Amino acid sequence: MTLEIGVDEAFAQTVGDRLKSIEHRLADSAFGQTPFVTEAASHIINAGGKRLRPMLVVVGAGLHPGASADEIERAAVVVELTHVASLYHDDVMDEADLRRGTESANHRYDNSIAIMIGDFLFARASSIVATLGVEYVALQADTFARLVQGQIAETRGPQAGDDPVGHYLQVVADKTGSLIATSAVFGGMVCGAAPAELRALAAYGEELGAVFQLSDDIIDIASDVTGKTPGTDLREGVPTLPTLLVKAGDDPSDARLRQLLQGQIDDADELAEALRLMRAHPVLTQARVEVERRAQLAKSHLDVLPHGTARDALMELCDQIVSRTA
Ligand code: FPP
Ligand code: MG
Repeated sequence: MTLEIGVDEAFAQTVGDRLKSIEHRLADSAFGQTPFVTEAASHIINAGGKRLRPMLVVVGAGLHPGASADEIERAAVVVELTHVASLYHDDVMDEADLRRGTESANHRYDNSIAIMIGDFLFARASSIVATLGVEYVALQADTFARLVQGQIAETRGPQAGDDPVGHYLQVVADKTGSLIATSAVFGGMVCGAAPAELRALAAYGEELGAVFQLSDDIIDIASDVTGKTPGTDLREGVPTLPTLLVKAGDDPSDARLRQLLQGQIDDADELAEALRLMRAHPVLTQARVEVERRAQLAKSHLDVLPHGTARDALMELCDQIVSRTA
């Protein structure tokens, strides 16, 4: 998926130029003391990705005139490096062998190296965020805590008395919504947005994050062209909205599917069967309706922001995330 800012040509050009410069800065920040560290840290950065978080910083920074290009780019690099660092760790936890269409770092190197390269990139993000100021450092640290706790909650699963869907949505908010919200807020901060505007950007980002992750989970089931192995979440037994909805139901015709969804699916034939049954199931439509509802909510938070190309672009980004298929 390529994200595009098509609302205003001049604005799209500025955003595109900034994103190019951010790519160079990302490459520079992967530079380590040895060629091996540089190579391993560049591996997932070079694999590309949607760059949604940098895009949110850059677009959010356009809400008010006068933001410094250098500050915008540093803030964007911080959120993308944090994201990439978390992916190095996430692929270890998920035992994934593909990331962004290329070999995951844990597969290419090993688990220990992948974890430490994630730490290295997070250290790089920390150095850069320190140059932006203490409010940025504080928000970055709170975001990191949410990312980690979201991941821990996902790993442990719902505890006795927890509603599985509510638990899942909290995981989504913490492990995905938090950093996407912070990206939009960083954009607002660099252009001097008012506190109410920063709150709106945070609320928008939280919802956009949910939209993004819920559609990612649908795509894991529905698409063959994501650059990741289809059904990775199913195979690992990671709960997602569609699978939780199947499990919450009591339709006897779903008995076989519910049995398959009870844990990890190690057998290739059983995984193929589970994918086939999930793809044909009405819960996929139900999940898509929920994605659409939350996208509308995301956009409604933008009402308090100044009208203009940046706000239009934030609306458009939301629509693109809803309609993506890969
Ligand atoms: C992808 O989830 C993973 C995340 C959104 C964040 C995971 C957070 C951590 C591992 C902890 C944070 C660590 C650092 C160093 C910041 P997914 O598995 O649902 O998505 P996928 O399909 O892209 O793998
Ligand atoms: Mg994963």
